[in-house]
Amino acid sequence: MASFKDICFTPAEFSNIARLDKSKFNSLESSGIIKTVRRRLGNSDRKMVPLEEIQKYFHELRSGRHGDQEKMAELPKNKVQMFYNVKGGTGKSTLTAQYVMKAAILGMKVLAIDLDGQGHLTVNLDILDGHERPTIYDVLINDLPLSDAILQVAPGLDLVPANLGLCNIEIPLNNKTRREYRLSEALAKVVDQYDLVVADTNPAASILNGSMLVAANLVNVVCATNPLSFHGMSLVMATIEGMEREFRRTLEVRIVPNLYDNREIISQEVLGELKSQFPENCTQTVVNRSADLNEATKRRTTVWGVNAKGVAAQDIKALTEELLFS
Ligand SMILES: Nc1ncnc2c1ncn2[C@@H]1O[C@H](COP(=O)(O)OP(=O)(O)O)[C@@H](O)[C@H]1O
Ligand SMILES: [Mg+2]
Repeated sequence: MASFKDICFTPAEFSNIARLDKSKFNSLESSGIIKTVRRRLGNSDRKMVPLEEIQKYFHELRSGRHGDQEKMAELPKNKVQMFYNVKGGTGKSTLTAQYVMKAAILGMKVLAIDLDGQGHLTVNLDILDGHERPTIYDVLINDLPLSDAILQVAPGLDLVPANLGLCNIEIPLNNKTRREYRLSEALAKVVDQYDLVVADTNPAASILNGSMLVAANLVNVVCATNPLSFHGMSLVMATIEGMEREFRRTLEVRIVPNLYDNREIISQEVLGELKSQFPENCTQTVVNRSADLNEATKRRTTVWGVNAKGVAAQDIKALTEELLFS
């Protein structure tokens, strides 16, 4: 099973991701812009595009060297983002992992930050020795430079991992001066090296999450389309507004409906309520409940590695493009 760093795409998948006509692929290949490799898939030998080649394509697109794909050539509108909800189980860690991998596929230099001691983002990105590594605890409490806590997951994708030790950060962080500013100040030293910084947060109104609200430009609130998740939304929005007032910041807030099942009346009702109560904030993309996303979590890879043609792959593609560019 290929982990994210070894992922390869078929010419059809590449064309889909790059929004190109399939016939254009051959001319890109023959002019040497895209280099393919041969990979054995079952009984056949297939032409594939490795991750680094697809990233190189997007880098060149951004430097204006080829193509007229203006939208795909942009950099993110909001550089520092977080996935947030005080409720657990809404899909924050799953969507954060899929989002950062997809942004890296688009050739962006991405820093993912795991702010949850459960370390689900860390595991979702296939880092299994997180318990041995420094975390944001060491940065915020023991003054470790953030760059010393960063590891490379794959080309274009770095991570500040988390482990259980991070669950103990609240009391020592509370005792620090300028506690809510420490994370922004640490981030400021590395942010120039990245196109996109994305944090996954812990399911609480914690000081650590508060520090990320001080550092972020865009908050992506993941809301499961069930009644309890919807009920918690007023608290989430009030918490964000409280932070904006206290720290004199203006945050862009998106609500991402997740785990949607169009066969369930309750899912339809909650989605309707979300859209009518928060019309300005709801993303157009609704992420459907899909076994592919569960499978991707289990295999610790992207939904493309599981089923490139499935609904989940389409949802993550649409969500990523919406959160990056609109
Ligand atoms: N759209 C989805 N379809 C199917 N399963 C999902 C979806 N989103 C999340 N999950 C699953 O739900 C569980 C909880 O998701 P997780 O991302 O850990 O939530 P959180 O980080 O908000 O606590 C995980 O097992 C994950 O695989
Ligand atoms: Mg989580």
